[in-house]
Amino acid sequence: MTLTDADAATTLDLDRHVFHSWSAQGSLAPFVIAGASGSEVWDEDGKHYLDFSSQLVNTNIGHTHPKVVAAIQEQAALLPTVAPAHANRTRGLAAERILQVAGDPFSAVFFTNGGADANENAIRLARLTTGRDKVLSAYRSYHGNTGAAIVATGDWRRMPNEYARGHVHFFGPYPYRSEFWSSSPEQEAERALHALERIVQAEGPGTIAALLVETVPGTAGVLVPPPGWLAGLRAIADRYGIVLILDEVMAGFGRTGDWFAFQNPQLNPDGVVPDLVTFAKGVNSGYVPAGGVLLPPTIAAEFDTRVFPGGLTYSGHPLAMASIVASIDAMRDEGIIDNAARIGADVLGPALHALAERHQVIGEVRGLGVFWALELVADRATREPLPAADMAGIKRRLMAEGLLPFVQDNRIHVVPPCIVTDEEVRRGVAILDAVLP
Ligand SMILES: Cc1ncc(COP(=O)(O)O)c(C=O)c1O
Repeated sequence: MTLTDADAATTLDLDRHVFHSWSAQGSLAPFVIAGASGSEVWDEDGKHYLDFSSQLVNTNIGHTHPKVVAAIQEQAALLPTVAPAHANRTRGLAAERILQVAGDPFSAVFFTNGGADANENAIRLARLTTGRDKVLSAYRSYHGNTGAAIVATGDWRRMPNEYARGHVHFFGPYPYRSEFWSSSPEQEAERALHALERIVQAEGPGTIAALLVETVPGTAGVLVPPPGWLAGLRAIADRYGIVLILDEVMAGFGRTGDWFAFQNPQLNPDGVVPDLVTFAKGVNSGYVPAGGVLLPPTIAAEFDTRVFPGGLTYSGHPLAMASIVASIDAMRDEGIIDNAARIGADVLGPALHALAERHQVIGEVRGLGVFWALELVADRATREPLPAADMAGIKRRLMAEGLLPFVQDNRIHVVPPCIVTDEEVRRGVAILDAVLP
């Protein structure tokens, strides 16, 4: 390939040198984003779009939050990088902030570069502390694109990448498309738990290190857990000595209207406490790549005298740490988590349910906070998913009207930043109203 003259080239010309994620490279025509602020992005022609995708569901604090940008700039001028073995004040402050919002059950943070390696290290911790090997995770899940994380993933991205061993999958609850012939969410949870426990027994409880689940499976469709599911997972983990890892990479840091989804009484009325929690995305809205694992004192203490055999050059990278401190402070000071909860309960949720009354194509609306999915169907009675070509047409028209959506399979995930205003929600929903058949 010949290189372009950078001065004359368009952004799309230059983009041909970029090898993109999860794509056949030949026919790509990516949307060009030139800049962004708050809940909006704009293209190079200056056209503005409401960002109801939060990019990859990560800009929880909105785009270019001035305090987070300033914190990164100040840290860059002071100390832009430091080896993980050294202590650094900003890293300590970031860990302290995260532990403050996570609450009592956790006492330490292991920092990673993102969500996949957070899961990778949570799995490693579970294997090391149990002396067991297997990891059970759901078919309807995404846990990241590294060795064990991609094989823990349930969706299609696992199959071309199955090079790690010791992974077993199960069907979690999904009342709208039940695998268990259930007729209520409670029954769905009960039957999914029964099936899961049978898998644990058949695999051999003594071989299973971890149960790895998203508190709210995100990419798989914002699958709000039915009553009893999380408590049942905890009970199975306890019964068989298995480490319960909750993946809150997408659900954490405000998305559900709480700091962590497991703290949300609507999602977790029984107050289930996981053994390990993984996070990334919303912890600093992705301004600098970062993620991590929350450890309770029991698991952390295992490594008081024993070496933890894991690490990363950029574990606790100062720019990421500065952005975490500023982001958590801004979220707390500006009531951003509360805004996400209020928007979900009073504005976005009711508006999406009203939308479903006007559009037969919406088979189900589910979610909370700023974490919603519209499941689009060709036929409400059969629940047949709307075909891909129709979804592509809807996406094109939404963008033409100035809404950047998150479209996944036959669903529109309505996932604006936690700072979204009532007026922006009304504007976004009006565009959905105008475009949906
Ligand atoms: C639930 C969940 N876990 C893990 C990941 C992987 O995170 P990352 O892409 O930062 O490695 C994602 C990414 O979308 C996710 O949604």
